[in-house]
Amino acid sequence: MILSIESSCDDSSIAITEIETKKLVFHEKISQEKEHSIYGGVVPELASRLHAVALPKILVKTKEYFPKLRAIAVTNQPGLGVTLMEGIAMAKTLSSMLDIPLIAVNHLKAHIYSLFIEKETIFPILALLISGGHTMIVRVKSFENMQILATTLDDSIGESFDKCAKMMDLGYPGGPIIERLALSGDANRFSFPVPLSNSPLIAFSLSGLKNAVRLQVEALGGANIMSEQDKCDVAACFQKAVISHLLQKSKKIFANEPIRDVAIVGGAAANRSIANAFEGLCKTYNKRLHSTPLAYCSDNAAMVGRYAVDAFKNNLFSNDIQTLPTQKHIAGTLL
Ligand code: KG4
Ligand code: ZN
Repeated sequence: MILSIESSCDDSSIAITEIETKKLVFHEKISQEKEHSIYGGVVPELASRLHAVALPKILVKTKEYFPKLRAIAVTNQPGLGVTLMEGIAMAKTLSSMLDIPLIAVNHLKAHIYSLFIEKETIFPILALLISGGHTMIVRVKSFENMQILATTLDDSIGESFDKCAKMMDLGYPGGPIIERLALSGDANRFSFPVPLSNSPLIAFSLSGLKNAVRLQVEALGGANIMSEQDKCDVAACFQKAVISHLLQKSKKIFANEPIRDVAIVGGAAANRSIANAFEGLCKTYNKRLHSTPLAYCSDNAAMVGRYAVDAFKNNLFSNDIQTLPTQKHIAGTLL
């Protein structure tokens, strides 16, 4: 079995995965959303201290599996430096205590592998990875061959949902709140610009749209003056622009890509409106859409463990794991 640890942002999670069967036998996660909510976003130092409390709390529940462990896997990049360090310190201690190897896991690859927690691997597949830190389309040919076809020039989808919620004083994380308000909103009341719609670039950008939302919120008098309906309408118009942007750029890739299997992964993959829009796009381009079970869309150690099983089978061990907090991704290989 492999014990895996996730602490790249504000979720402390540990899982145990059977190597032979790839079965998830233990999984627990403690989220810090409530603690960060008052700040409207994640405070790294606070997150780090909360991991230091939560991870050992989960770890004690896994003691019965210790004799069966063959490796310890941990997310080492990308993420917040101070929170990654909490998971890595625990992983190194367990590895030396139990005398078993370490496996370093790229968080983005783990999100892609969240698709395979409950089913067999599907290769090749095109993965739309939309999370709090990233927005990209990755061509996944195999465990060791992942190519970034498009990425964001500035902010990520999840972060833009979080910021829009913050502008309207709605709490954190903003994704589920904006999605819920959008259901009661008029998506035609404001016309927000669809990012890069006149650009041939196959890339994403959210900063301009975020700014347009900020100006609209100000024009409506700010969060304290706006009515509940105003907030629903802003949420609906913002989400509509995000979806148009995602579809416009994805279309360009779908049109020239023979791969038939497509998936949406990452925290924002939990958004039903985004998923429904993608389902429509897939039908048009004769693609099959796969999705991560809702429980594994946001950060978790089960996906880290599932990736680690394939790393174990490929003998991909690390003698010493370094924290690599900032990984600037441009189109190219996902390392
Ligand atoms: O994958 P994840 O847990 O963490 C990162 O790797 O960043 O993603 C968290 C992000 C947050 O920004 C959150 O607002 C967003 O996913 N999110 C959503 C929804 N649920 C979570 N965004 C849009 N709609 C949702 N329903
Ligand atoms: Zn994530």
